[in-house]
Amino acid sequence: MLFVLAVIQFIQPDRNQSGQAAILDISRIYPVPESVQGILRESCYDCHSDNTRYPWYSFSQPAAWWVSSHIRKGKSELNFNQFGSYSARRQRSKLKSIASSIKDPTMPLPSYTLIHRNALLSAKDRQLILQWTAKMISRSPNK
Ligand code: HEC
Repeated sequence: MLFVLAVIQFIQPDRNQSGQAAILDISRIYPVPESVQGILRESCYDCHSDNTRYPWYSFSQPAAWWVSSHIRKGKSELNFNQFGSYSARRQRSKLKSIASSIKDPTMPLPSYTLIHRNALLSAKDRQLILQWTAKMISRSPNK
């Protein structure tokens, strides 16, 4: 077991860090107040953007795989850095699912907030995101 653990340390998944300016970021196409931006960056961007802040444990296996699979899945469903590349219809539907993920609440993933306590959303955070999504949905093209 120790041997296996030692060996798998050398197999590291690619890092999700583009280092590029996010020209298609959601904030380029929708007004995102700083308060909302701050919440999204703190609680969502690690899995839903092209740039993850990697915690120390993510450098050891098997945590690295686990982290990387969350990022891969999360990003493929919703990528705030690529929001501008979505069709108007997709943007609208993603805004709606953001609202339901906050209402339900399914996001951020509980396995994540277990470790990242500062990603936990307060009642005020939830309210800010819900008000913002409602406003953005009402102004996004209804197609
Ligand atoms: C630890 C990684 C992680 C974090 C942090 C995270 N998510 Fe997710 N998210 C996922 C994964 C993985 C999925 C894919 C579906 C699933 O496994 O539940 C997902 C799916 C979603 C979806 C569904 C997309 C769709 O089209 O149905 C929405 C919306 C979403 N997340 C919003 C958020 C928001 C908003 C936050 C911050 C408040 C957040 N997520 C934080 C990993 C994460």
